[in-house]
Amino acid sequence: MAFERMQSALARARAMREGPGFRVDPEAAAEAETVDDDRPFESDTDKWDEFPVADLHPRLLAQSRVVTAGSGDEAPAFDVLRTKVFQEMRAHGWKRIAITSPDKGCGKSTVAMNLAFGLSRQKEIRTLLAEVDLRRPSLARALNLPPRAGMAAMLSREVRPVQAILRVRDNLAVVANRSRSPLSAELLHSPVAAEVLREIEVRYRPDFMVFDLPPVMSGDDALAFLGNVDCALLVASAERTTTAQLETCLRDIKARTALAGVVLNRCRGGSAGY
Ligand SMILES: Nc1ncnc2c1ncn2[C@@H]1O[C@H](COP(=O)(O)OP(=O)(O)O)[C@@H](O)[C@H]1O
Ligand SMILES: [Mg+2]
Repeated sequence: MAFERMQSALARARAMREGPGFRVDPEAAAEAETVDDDRPFESDTDKWDEFPVADLHPRLLAQSRVVTAGSGDEAPAFDVLRTKVFQEMRAHGWKRIAITSPDKGCGKSTVAMNLAFGLSRQKEIRTLLAEVDLRRPSLARALNLPPRAGMAAMLSREVRPVQAILRVRDNLAVVANRSRSPLSAELLHSPVAAEVLREIEVRYRPDFMVFDLPPVMSGDDALAFLGNVDCALLVASAERTTTAQLETCLRDIKARTALAGVVLNRCRGGSAGY
């Protein structure tokens, strides 16, 4: 335990020294560039290492309220959540989890990031954190990701996954979105998007995909996307969400996917609107 703490302190110190950056493995990148997307789909290959690497700054993670990236001592509540979600997903064979909430600013992105980083502390499992909130994206800024094509471009096949997804740890990859996408509902409904997700699963073999969704009550984006996941976690605001809102959202979610749980968060809403 003491050794683990020391290791993570060392890792943190190293990362502080180096700062955030962007590193591409030249061999993997060269191979990625030569991938011919017209060839028959190869299900027996594992291309996870193709994703370019982005280094994250621990201080920035702390600012963005990612508390699960360290040794775990500082995040008991999220550890419980992570373990419960992990056990539930493993027990049911679920691989894809959506994080949503009734309204904006309830803490969806915070929970999604902490869940993904928490899961990634288990070295043997791979997690992909994907930003489905295309109207009010926040992950690129929260994680200070280098410029990349976004989730919208990837889901619509404008770019290949390897051009949009970044590895922020050996076993944790992220695909975010830089700008708002006006056609998000159409895109999230589309069969092409569903196909892209299936291909990612076959080609890159993530054990879990964590999807940071828009709110249920802000349009039909979230509900449209729930058809693509195995389960959903509902994040409610302890200060703002009403019982009626909670009930409506639970009913809407349960009509489309399995409910993995409800998280009561204490945050105040952000100022930007949908
Ligand atoms: N438990 C919490 N305590 C304090 N602030 C929080 C908490 N959860 C989230 N926040 C902050 O509240 C704001 C909105 O959270 P966010 O996760 O972006 O919500 P959403 O994705 O649902 O819109 C962010 O600035 C975030 O850092
Ligand atoms: Mg968000």
